[in-house]
Amino acid sequence: MSTIIEIQGLTKKYGGLVALNDLNLEIEEGSVFGFIGPNGAGKTTTMRILTTLLKPTSGKVWVAGHSVNDDPRGVRRAIGYMPDFFGVYDDMKVWEYLDFFAACYDIPTEARAGMTDDLLALVDLGHKKEAYVESLSRGMKQRLCLARTLAHDPQVLILDEPASGLDPRARIEIRELLRELKDMGKTIFFSSHILSEVADVCTSIGIIEAGELVAYGDMAEMKKQLRAHRLVQAQVIGDTTPLQEFLLRSDHVTSITGSDEADIPLNAVQFDFSGDDEALSDLLNGMVANGLRVISFHEETGDLEDVFLQVTKGIIN
Ligand SMILES: Nc1ncnc2c1ncn2[C@@H]1O[C@H](COP(=O)(O)OP(=O)(O)OP(=O)(O)O)[C@@H](O)[C@H]1O
Ligand SMILES: [Mg+2]
Repeated sequence: MSTIIEIQGLTKKYGGLVALNDLNLEIEEGSVFGFIGPNGAGKTTTMRILTTLLKPTSGKVWVAGHSVNDDPRGVRRAIGYMPDFFGVYDDMKVWEYLDFFAACYDIPTEARAGMTDDLLALVDLGHKKEAYVESLSRGMKQRLCLARTLAHDPQVLILDEPASGLDPRARIEIRELLRELKDMGKTIFFSSHILSEVADVCTSIGIIEAGELVAYGDMAEMKKQLRAHRLVQAQVIGDTTPLQEFLLRSDHVTSITGSDEADIPLNAVQFDFSGDDEALSDLLNGMVANGLRVISFHEETGDLEDVFLQVTKGIIN
């Protein structure tokens, strides 16, 4: 596998504000990279530099072998960019919108009609071909915008929060689309606020906070580490003392927190579990066999970011 995006010592200052501080990243060809971080972390700034819309203060960036400083035209040919903000297109039909962007990329007229249909089919908007862009729902606009980024068949897609503001159904559709694009051989660099939402589609991720990369690596490896630190919550009918005593006897249970903690419900306990799926299933079996009246048993994933940062501390970078 070869590196398709390389970022070396990237720093961006807006006046006195350091928006990016010495960022280093390497993205492999064909990967789906999730760039995760809270508001103002520097995601859009990074992506605007990758797409040559913004000049770095210092540092070097290459996309598909082209330097953003020395060969911005080469970079632009290799990428498709979906900005975080969808422009206003009055009085333009869906097919005209795609046709317009294809024309911008010098795609010949004869090729455009077929290509527009193919792209609309890919993003599942064939039935909206003659509709006005403004009449589309937000989710549909987002998919149309994604179709637009594909018009010149770029190797690399840079998508700034492609799923933001969408309902759960539409978010799943975007994720499916990302998978399809990955299968087509595209490299995808996309941003999001929420790790748990993107974890299953990414092959690698980076977490950025206040302009600094705090964790970065291969998703499969990180997932393995996450599995070694599972946080499980179990709830029983009545007092939790017998449950706690039972858990203390398990080799895989390391620490137990009771419902005196603020976010743990009454009659529930939370514990760290170090075993695999089989061991976890055996534990639940054991509870029931020992007469514990279990009403819920589940793995906590809500604070995936926190767990993630703990787990990756000192391992990555
Ligand atoms: N044109 C600008 N001029 C001055 N400061 C800016 C400019 N653009 C961004 N910033 C600042 O740079 C920092 C990073 O902003 P950026 O938009 O890259 O964050 P982000 O991670 O994309 O956030 P969000 O999740 O809200 O989209 C913020 O502190 C922001 O206020
Ligand atoms: Mg942003």
